[in-house]
Amino acid sequence: MNQTVQISPSDLDAQRTYCAQIADHWSARGRTPSAYVETYGCQQNEADSQRIRGMLLTCGYRMAEGPEGADVVVMNTCAIREHAEQRVFGNLGALTHTKRRHPEQKIFLCGCMAGQREVVERLRRSYPHVDGVFDPQALWRFPEILYRSLTTGKRVFPTELSPDSIAEGLPVLRDSRHKAWVSIMYGCNNFCTYCIVPYVRGRERSRRPEAILDECRALIAGGCREITLLGQNVNSYGKDLDMGWDFSDLLAAVAELEGDFWIRFMTSHPRDAGKKLFDTMAAHPKIAKQLHLPFQSGSSRILKAMNRHYDRAEYLKAVEYAKSVMPELVLTSDVIVGFPGETEADFEETISLISQVRYDALFTFIFSPRPGTPAAEMPDPTPKEEKNRRFDRLCGLQNAISEEIHRGYIGRTLTCLIDGREGGLLTARTEGGRLVRLEGPEDLIGTFAPVRITGATTWSLTGTLEA
Ligand code: SAH
Ligand code: SF4
Ligand code: F3S
Repeated sequence: MNQTVQISPSDLDAQRTYCAQIADHWSARGRTPSAYVETYGCQQNEADSQRIRGMLLTCGYRMAEGPEGADVVVMNTCAIREHAEQRVFGNLGALTHTKRRHPEQKIFLCGCMAGQREVVERLRRSYPHVDGVFDPQALWRFPEILYRSLTTGKRVFPTELSPDSIAEGLPVLRDSRHKAWVSIMYGCNNFCTYCIVPYVRGRERSRRPEAILDECRALIAGGCREITLLGQNVNSYGKDLDMGWDFSDLLAAVAELEGDFWIRFMTSHPRDAGKKLFDTMAAHPKIAKQLHLPFQSGSSRILKAMNRHYDRAEYLKAVEYAKSVMPELVLTSDVIVGFPGETEADFEETISLISQVRYDALFTFIFSPRPGTPAAEMPDPTPKEEKNRRFDRLCGLQNAISEEIHRGYIGRTLTCLIDGREGGLLTARTEGGRLVRLEGPEDLIGTFAPVRITGATTWSLTGTLEA
């Protein structure tokens, strides 16, 4: 049984000492070092990268725009599909050149690829320019790994994977003052048969509610207007804490904090997304009426083979209830095409589910066998061309639905959170999370404003500020 380790304050103090020693190392050389952190994969990795940047800042580094000339490069990787890994190996290969031009450069690889022993071994053997590797459970030890590499010049490769851990109070460098990711739990216990995440991120473990609420309070006091609670399966929150708190209780407690902000969360697993969650969302105005509820397949037979623990009818029932208590709900989802053994009839069920639910947007994936997962061993007779054909048909259907739904926004005035600037226009999000582009002054960034929607495409909306 894999036990969760709560990283002790003294262990974290020791890491702070490494940070101070690294800062001394650079000030003795009379210059400010630079660091570049590249993130692949999901929001969990984005959140982890913000902690890595926070640690680097504490060590005296400034952030660089790219790997060229940076003293430290950290690749925070994703292992979810083969393509994701190939991109990392490709970009890692290219770093041999940046390192040749700047031989002092230190290159580290972390994230989900570092949670696979075979990958770590391949990096050790075939990528000699990589100075060190650490898995997601060892994130908090990065200062020590960096210090060892800087002072000994030796490569730092773990011989085994780290135990599951929770480390509170790591420094964090967020890229926006107005939006923040807050991890509420780590790991996953679901073992969907196609998925690598439980193998690389360990078992589910929840942060204590006080720690989460304190972090949210500090964010709101600092001007944060949008908090996204993160976990691979947020509905399992609290099961390991024995406090009688579930995710809905946590969500309600965050929603009751003082201040003007929206709360979002992801990801919800349909297996335990029930009435209590949807009633809580409906009852609290600060909880954005947005739900990402991955269905993966419309065929109950395939869902069983995926080990998803719900069938088509149960999924549809949950969606129906959610929509009944939140008529404005914006619903998004993930779907996998071409799971081993998916027949034309199974695929038709996926198509009909999409037509019936009418998602605002879908994240669509072609099945990618991940070594070590059960689905990678399942017979998969469907040719690649056939899978591509199904994929294209599904995307065509969804794009048409997204565009129709977006057109329905035209003429409406919605409260939006203005969150940035891109190519001369402000960017904003509706409560449902839809992207809106509009003209307006930069000082509106970080505020809520009424926006009249004037145009729509499959992917986004355009609008004007309402006086
Ligand atoms: N924890 C989240 C999402 C994890 S990964 C959840 O359970 O919903 C994000 C998405 O990647 C998954 O929802 C799934 O649609 C897709 N995915 C995961 N493993 C995959 C694989 N081996 N091949 C193709 N898509 C995959
Ligand atoms: Fe992967 Fe399933 Fe866990 Fe999501 S719930 S991370 S798809 S195993
Ligand atoms: Fe990728 Fe790891 Fe997220 S595998 S999708 S970065 S949890």
